[in-house]
Amino acid sequence: MEVLNQVLHGNAYELINDLPDNSIDVIVTSPPYWRQVRYSDSKDELGQESTPQKYIEKISLLFNKLEPKLKDHGSLWVNVADNYVSNKLKKNEAIRSHPLSLAAIPELFKTAMVYEHGWICRNDIIWYKPNARPSGGVSSRFGVDYERLFWFIKSPHYYFVTQRLPHEWIEKDNLSLMGKSSKAELAGGKESTGMHEVLSLRGKPRTRRYHPLGKLMRSVWPIDVQPDELAFVIYPTIWTINTTGYSGKHFAPFPSKLVHRVLTATCPREVCLNCGKPIFDPSVEQYYPKTTLKTLCDCGTTLGSDLSTPGCVYDPLAGTGTVAKAAIECGRNYIVSEILQDNIQQIHQRIQDAEFKDYYLMEFLDYSQKLKEGLSEG
Ligand SMILES: C[S@@+](CC[C@H](N)C(=O)[O-])C[C@H]1O[C@@H](n2cnc3c(N)ncnc32)[C@H](O)[C@@H]1O
Repeated sequence: MEVLNQVLHGNAYELINDLPDNSIDVIVTSPPYWRQVRYSDSKDELGQESTPQKYIEKISLLFNKLEPKLKDHGSLWVNVADNYVSNKLKKNEAIRSHPLSLAAIPELFKTAMVYEHGWICRNDIIWYKPNARPSGGVSSRFGVDYERLFWFIKSPHYYFVTQRLPHEWIEKDNLSLMGKSSKAELAGGKESTGMHEVLSLRGKPRTRRYHPLGKLMRSVWPIDVQPDELAFVIYPTIWTINTTGYSGKHFAPFPSKLVHRVLTATCPREVCLNCGKPIFDPSVEQYYPKTTLKTLCDCGTTLGSDLSTPGCVYDPLAGTGTVAKAAIECGRNYIVSEILQDNIQQIHQRIQDAEFKDYYLMEFLDYSQKLKEGLSEG
């Protein structure tokens, strides 16, 4: 595809038309907050719609236009932030929503995608920001330190690599949380079904209730915004902007780590140029759910062959280009588009500075390395 690994400048709603159908493996994006920041003077810029409902209609339209471009095994990840109604509505539109209320944007969006547009919402992830800045000194409510990340698929035959948390991250054993049968098995020294004895990092047997590959990852993801990404951050309250007096351009970038996880889980390492499907990857064989096995290429193409290419991620609303940067770090292809000319230079700079770091399966590999080191110590 000609546009692979390109930064496209312009209105995403128009640029999408040039993408071939069934060409994208994963879409990851974050629309501008509703009526919070004006990035440009362009009438095509998203986020300036007069009501939350019109905003939801506009962003849903973007994803519906993208749907044919996404392969059947593909995933769509959308980070949608909420916002306070505040004084954003004209008087006649504000009748049923109080200025102090949240606008309920993520809820409206999820409902529209599932019930009006037929997307399958597979997870509603909480991206918890342990290092979030307090809400600009607002003391009349709780500070906000999380955002929502929706994972949608278009077909039940989607590509997914099960994500597990290495055992070293699991909190201390809590026997009182275990069911009766597990306790009996533990006392009797029998192996419980599906669970195996796990060696601790020091090589000593732990309990028998842990899965050997780690605990299934859940839907609250604590991910710090990295220090080199803080410069771009705008926090989700209008008060923050006003009180910081920050005069530069404001963006709301994803942390690269968030995108690494999304790519590891749903963007195939390589796809077949013949059929476009993910190529079987022996190093994640044990992490493939049964449904994913059905999505794999059966042309006989192998990883690294002339007929393979990395999976492709698209961010239609690229901002500072975090998705392109993270794709390079994970060894994936990317396409990004952005309406604001000033951002294009910045995206190119971030791409130029990005290096392949093999974030692919980083968490698993890191764990098995530590496990080996632990064993040799013991
Ligand atoms: C919230 S920012 C995205 C931040 C991004 N996730 C990052 O990590 O930097 C949203 C971006 O969408 C861009 N945008 C808004 N409307 C657009 C449109 N119609 N076509 C393309 N880009 C658009 C804005 O200029 C802004 O940079």
